[in-house]
Amino acid sequence: MLSIVKGPYLQWPTPTSMTLMWETSGPASTEGRYWGTQRTHSRGLTLLPESEKQVTGAGDTCIHTLVLEGLVPETLYHYQVRSVDAAGQVVESAVLSLKTAVDHNTPFSFAVCSESGGYGDDLINRRLFPQIQRHRPDFLLMVGDAVQQGRRYEDWEQFFFGPAKALLYSTPFYLCLGNHEEQATWARDFVAYPEPRNYYSFDYGNTHFTALDCTELIEYRDGLPVATAELRPEGAQWRFLVADLAASRATWKVVFFHYPPYVSADYQVEQLRVLCPILEAHGVDLVFNSHTIVYERSHPLRQDRLDLERGIVYVVAGGAGATPEWFHPKRAWHTAQARAVPHFVQVVVAGSTLELRAIDEYGHLFDTLQLRK
Ligand SMILES: [Fe+2]
Repeated sequence: MLSIVKGPYLQWPTPTSMTLMWETSGPASTEGRYWGTQRTHSRGLTLLPESEKQVTGAGDTCIHTLVLEGLVPETLYHYQVRSVDAAGQVVESAVLSLKTAVDHNTPFSFAVCSESGGYGDDLINRRLFPQIQRHRPDFLLMVGDAVQQGRRYEDWEQFFFGPAKALLYSTPFYLCLGNHEEQATWARDFVAYPEPRNYYSFDYGNTHFTALDCTELIEYRDGLPVATAELRPEGAQWRFLVADLAASRATWKVVFFHYPPYVSADYQVEQLRVLCPILEAHGVDLVFNSHTIVYERSHPLRQDRLDLERGIVYVVAGGAGATPEWFHPKRAWHTAQARAVPHFVQVVVAGSTLELRAIDEYGHLFDTLQLRK
């Protein structure tokens, strides 16, 4: 029987477009339809039948990508995907909802998490993803290690697309690669980012986001991190990062990559601090990392020192699946707040104010930060 084995899920939202993806159990067609949404007092949000539009992709594939274009900014739509195989078997998703990206000056919210790949209590991600959904972010940054072994196909459903299914129906996600993605082709096949897909940038509202693949910048030898030839000014990602940040005039700039340059626990990767002067020179406000299974927020840092006026805040948000790590016995000089608990981070951007909240798996708030321009 033909079935939908992943998704549908959302990718690459813009104010006027959205990309739908799903995977079917066998090669089949790529079809979708969508509707405008109306609010009625008695029935809540329902679709407008007369607004229906149909879209068809190339088909004859298992992993489907379908772009909806010509949409209205910051607007809710209903959508449904459908595939038909050569034998005429039909499979359809439920009717689901999506929201297009906001215009430049409209407030928005995003969530940050990582490490859903487990390594102990793999029920944590099943509590975390619904908790994220309750906070209704416009999108999710997934800061790597979404799976345990990225080259193992089954992992992608077991650790990420399965536990996050309901969230991903209506919440686009941006993945940056961790070591557990193992630079697997799945990490590129299951997403719809611009080539080369493992590093990219985008704008959402008044904020610029840049994702790096630090598994190309650092390799482990005998258990110790070592800079690769990519981690220097001639490297492709180094050049991308400089050009990308220099070109952006966004109010806020957020960069995310997996290995943490600052954390007061195991797995800190100090070699990545060579990127910090680039971030500082181009007005980056916030950096999200993972890899260490903790929550840790740094003081504002500049030139590897405390700088309350112009420093960048580094946040390790490594708590969506694995059992939290032990911290070192004492905090580091750069540590502002830290907790070894399962968690995610929610950020609300409203014009010149950015508010960050760290929330545990039971919905309890345990850290906040407000930045103002
Ligand atoms: Fe990692």
